[in-house]
Amino acid sequence: MEKPFTIDAGRVRLRHLRPADLPAFAAYRADPAVCRFQGFDPFSEAQAVDFIARHSVAAIPAAPGEWVQIAIARRDDDELLGDCALHRQGHEPRIAEIGITLAPRWQGQGYAGEALQGLLRFCFAELGLHRVVALVDPRNAPSVALMERVGMRREGHFRQNGWYKGEWCDEFQYALLATDWPVAG
Ligand SMILES: CC(C)(COP(=O)(O)OP(=O)(O)OC[C@H]1O[C@@H](n2cnc3c(N)ncnc32)[C@H](O)[C@@H]1OP(=O)(O)O)[C@@H](O)C(=O)NCCC(=O)NCCS
Repeated sequence: MEKPFTIDAGRVRLRHLRPADLPAFAAYRADPAVCRFQGFDPFSEAQAVDFIARHSVAAIPAAPGEWVQIAIARRDDDELLGDCALHRQGHEPRIAEIGITLAPRWQGQGYAGEALQGLLRFCFAELGLHRVVALVDPRNAPSVALMERVGMRREGHFRQNGWYKGEWCDEFQYALLATDWPVAG
């Protein structure tokens, strides 16, 4: 049997989403505040059920060109805190995009920073990726702060680069190269 996917980083563990995560996952994914600066709208319960069913058995990493969502759980008690996402480009799988979401009650405690450190370590040390990118709405101050805290470098400000929630939205592009990793400090 294949070894289960786990990445430990500080107080958090990255692992597959599980059916037992459903109540917590469905609650924060249905929250409009959590979705405000994301490319998806609040989930219905049925969407959450379907999403967990698919991602609980998905390959990590997914095939190039596909996204996989990975659970962020607390190591102490396996409580689901949120999820992060990884997408290797279809035409250049050595370049990946990442994303992250925490349930509101778990924000502001440093968990996202630890989860991103773990995800970046997985990308560079285990997958041998060349470059990891994250796109952030400049109005999303906690996300901007998070990217800078983990040492992602702001490479660009793309004006009205995406159509989300009924409006054109600017995006900051953050990235890190394998040669930047690990970030000092
Ligand atoms: C983006 C997001 C994941 C950032 O989460 P976050 O809680 O701000 O980040 P962290 O978990 O790393 O917590 C950092 C905060 O905890 C504080 N903190 C408390 N204890 C800490 C500890 N032990 N270690 C580090 N930081 C700690 C930090 O000071 C910081 O607070 P500050 O920003 O007021 O200075 C979160 O805002 C979110 O899920 N938003 C909704 C989804 C979203 O928009 N995702 C991004 C799409 S691009």
